[in-house]
Amino acid sequence: MDYKGIVELMINNLEEGVIVVDSDLNIVYFNEPTTNITGFDPEEAVNKNIFQVFPHIEKEDSTFYKVIKTGKPIIDYVQHYTNYQGKNVSIVTSTIPIIEDGKITGAIEIFRDLTHVMELSEKVHMLQNTLYEKNNQEKKFLPNGTQYTFANLIGESQAIKQIKRKAQKVANSDSAVFVYGETGTGKEIVVQGLHNLSNRRDKPFIAQNCGALPENLLESILFGTVQGSFTGAKDKEGLFELADGGTLFLDELNSMNLNLQSKLLRVIEDGMIRRIGSTKTKLVDVRIIAATNIEPRKLVEEGKLREDLYYRLNVIYFHIPPLRERKEDIPLLVDHFIKICNSKMNKSVKGVDQEVMEYFLNYDWPGNVRELQNVIESVMNFVDHEYIDLEDLQICHHPCVKVIRDVPQVPIMSKNISLKEAVEEYEKQLIKKALEEADNNCAKAARALKVPKQTLHGKIKRYGLLNT
Ligand SMILES: Nc1ncnc2c1ncn2[C@@H]1O[C@H](COP(=O)(O)OP(=O)(O)OP(=O)(O)O)[C@@H](O)[C@H]1O
Ligand SMILES: [Mg+2]
Repeated sequence: MDYKGIVELMINNLEEGVIVVDSDLNIVYFNEPTTNITGFDPEEAVNKNIFQVFPHIEKEDSTFYKVIKTGKPIIDYVQHYTNYQGKNVSIVTSTIPIIEDGKITGAIEIFRDLTHVMELSEKVHMLQNTLYEKNNQEKKFLPNGTQYTFANLIGESQAIKQIKRKAQKVANSDSAVFVYGETGTGKEIVVQGLHNLSNRRDKPFIAQNCGALPENLLESILFGTVQGSFTGAKDKEGLFELADGGTLFLDELNSMNLNLQSKLLRVIEDGMIRRIGSTKTKLVDVRIIAATNIEPRKLVEEGKLREDLYYRLNVIYFHIPPLRERKEDIPLLVDHFIKICNSKMNKSVKGVDQEVMEYFLNYDWPGNVRELQNVIESVMNFVDHEYIDLEDLQICHHPCVKVIRDVPQVPIMSKNISLKEAVEEYEKQLIKKALEEADNNCAKAARALKVPKQTLHGKIKRYGLLNT
């Protein structure tokens, strides 16, 4: 097999551009996708110096130059430049040195076109702006950009009651807040609820998810930029300025790169922000709320969350326990979601029957309230009678139906009974249930229990079942 040919075929069919340079920054390899980004054909580009292909990049700003000089890779770096055809391009690059016999002999850069992502991020920025500036006509959103208040947090468990009580007490404080809860536990409701309880409620609520964005893009979104700070940069306020007087919600904080975490810490400590490329600082009054769906102590231990930042943010701490630890909230939530679906789907379902509720109460809900909400919504599509029953639930193949079947509950046994007797009693109950489900048809019950018919017969006789 011609491995060189295969590798070349692969590289030319990637979405990413790949450029290889030697230690003098002359291009040795240039794949086809790179053409779309740079405007150069591979044949034209090979043997040219990198600055002939990227004429608008200063030597000191060049990732190739830096990597070859330092021998250290630069990963997920966002760059904006005007290509030689005059087109503005945003790319995210990873540049890796090529080291042979301890010497840096060149570098590889892999890059993706970010132009669309940048356009989208500008749109999101614009939308966040309009959301609180103009009173949104859609009644789902409050004028400050939020959707929820604590009235939307359903639950009567101690945990939920305590969260509501604590929120009342701390709403008007300016201290930072840290919220931890597994996915789907209602962090968004708690965070927005807190803003709407506070005296900042008429000021903006700005949320930013820290995951999925390269470090320097997130940095410019948070702190803003000034024209000329890098090619393509505009004078733009960051989210800190946008949230002035209000709340800035940093969701999935653990996805933020450690370097940016330390910049964030500095801003929080002195309350001053400086747009990227600017020398001017500005005082901002922003309440920070951060959230993670992983235990923060674990994140600190694993080095994913800076300890100093964690302590700085964890002035007021909320933990929303997973649904499996507050199962008493399940019936209330079920009712709540059925009501919402009734009005959306124009139905009049009254509830779930006892058996379905048992399945719900026996399940662990790894996706928490969101998962429960989805099950209800999905079942509601098929139901036209008053109470949702097991058959309805089975239609949507949700794993909660499997739980009881696969892992029968361990029965509570009296203490003065031997293990043998306990096991026999348990076996008897299982056989009894299987017979009931099979309408006393032994062959069918044997199939369900996956035992030979004769074995089941023997046991039925021993336990005196069919006669009881
Ligand atoms: N206590 C609750 N009462 C009513 N609805 C709830 C409750 N908790 C969660 N929900 C609903 O469940 C869904 C998920 O909640 P939310 O978005 O707040 O979760 P989250 O903790 O932010 O999850 P993730 O970490 O995945 O972002 C939402 O539709 C929300 O309305
Ligand atoms: Mg969330």
